[in-house]
Amino acid sequence: MAHNNVAIYPGSFDPITNGHVDLVERTLRVFDRIIIAIATNPGKDSSLFSLEERLQMVRAVFKGFKRRVEAESFEGLLVDYAERKQAQVIIRGLRAVSDFEYEFQMAMMNHHLKPKLETFFMMTGESEFYTSSRLVKEVVSLGGDVSGLVPRNVLTKLIQKFKRKDVENDRARGKNQTN
Ligand code: PNS
Repeated sequence: MAHNNVAIYPGSFDPITNGHVDLVERTLRVFDRIIIAIATNPGKDSSLFSLEERLQMVRAVFKGFKRRVEAESFEGLLVDYAERKQAQVIIRGLRAVSDFEYEFQMAMMNHHLKPKLETFFMMTGESEFYTSSRLVKEVVSLGGDVSGLVPRNVLTKLIQKFKRKDVENDRARGKNQTN
């Protein structure tokens, strides 16, 4: 029995998708509180969205959940962060067989580091089975429509981000041509 009914849901959330949202909502049936923990890796981060942007998007999505869902960032080992938060459970979503190996490895490593910390796996909802942050970014960057796969605020941000990127690329191309 968990002493503290709080679960940590760690990830990159670059950006949060409806798959993540569905998972949080279903996890709330089991846990009182969920901390969405966005991992940072200064110097090695190749995320599309800055940490601040990712936090803002997640907080906006869950603003109606009062204190039950919080979003924070962390640096360093997840197990150490979980200990600081006095959480004994990590939540991870499983989409398809392809997720399993990576997730199993991480769960085992975390178990090795902190045996008292448990990883709970949740199956992703069927409509979110094929959604991933990586694919969503790729589709939007190529002009595809991902509405229904990400929250509305995220969709707006994604479109803005890639428009800005297009402008930057056009500018860089123009500069190269004049050089
Ligand atoms: O959404 P992602 O990118 O699959 O999430 C991966 C994440 C952030 C959960 C993982 O990289 C992580 O836990 N990073 C923190 C550093 C750490 O503890 N590394 C050892 C993992 S076994």
